[in-house]
Amino acid sequence: MNQFVDLTGRKILITGASSGIGKQTAMTLNGLGADVILVARREERLKAVLSELEGENNAYYVSDLSEVNRIEHLFKQIAEEQGKLDGMVYAAGIAIYTPLKLFKPDKIQEVFNINYFGFIESVRQICKKGRYNEGMRIVGVSSVASMRGDKARLAYSGSKAAMDASVRCIATEVYDKGICINTVAPAMTETEMYLEFMKTNGMSSPKNRGTLERQYMGVGKPEDIANAIAFLISPAARFITGITLPVDGGMTTS
Ligand SMILES: NC(=O)c1ccc[n+]([C@@H]2O[C@H](COP(=O)([O-])OP(=O)(O)OC[C@H]3O[C@@H](n4cnc5c(N)ncnc54)[C@H](OP(=O)(O)O)[C@@H]3O)[C@@H](O)[C@H]2O)c1
Repeated sequence: MNQFVDLTGRKILITGASSGIGKQTAMTLNGLGADVILVARREERLKAVLSELEGENNAYYVSDLSEVNRIEHLFKQIAEEQGKLDGMVYAAGIAIYTPLKLFKPDKIQEVFNINYFGFIESVRQICKKGRYNEGMRIVGVSSVASMRGDKARLAYSGSKAAMDASVRCIATEVYDKGICINTVAPAMTETEMYLEFMKTNGMSSPKNRGTLERQYMGVGKPEDIANAIAFLISPAARFITGITLPVDGGMTTS
């Protein structure tokens, strides 16, 4: 059958693949034919995801991507062991919510290290000559928080807005190498990060109720985000670059 989104024979690296959106993206892309390379810190989780995948050419690498200076070594090793890549999904990220008056510079640094600097350094490394095939696609997982003002989210929202802004710029530098780069911006999606957020705020707090009213299609599932990523990472999206695609159950426009 001729599939619209066909990833057969494509090798795609996915960070944050031990859980939530990254894990589901690994399963979805593998289901569409891709060999996937999983990256995160928790090895047992990565092994468990690997065991659920089809095919013999999938792999995992244990790495803390907030240690930005070590990313170069990781990508060198992956290039040597896995060859050229056809795509990268950067889904690794953390959410720390603290109001301005309680914020310390090292907390902002912690959020930016994994959410933003780790992303940019990974993009820089994968775009090096000899590490990718013509037509490579990169998708960063941003957030609707990049476009909204919410209490206590200054670092998280800032890190996601920085991703989106940088993607617009990087797209103009890499298109002539045949590379497209975009972000997706999920709204609340049912993962461990979301459950933690709900626990902290109180499941039925007015704040959470208000957010869900605006997200009128309800809480997203990791599959909803993974499906949008699958399209953007596929050859079918060859004319799309530098954008942020909300995947948000109506949140951004309501
Ligand atoms: N869930 C939502 O409602 C929502 C909404 C908008 C955007 N997002 C974004 O979606 C992305 C995925 O989040 P999620 O909801 O799927 O949360 P999650 O289930 O907590 O997954 C986060 C992933 O990031 C990895 N990670 C965190 N710190 C890392 C580090 N220092 N080095 C390497 N990997 C690291 C984690 O793996 P290890 O702990 O094994 O390292 C895990 O695989 C995040 O960027 C988040 O901001 C989520």
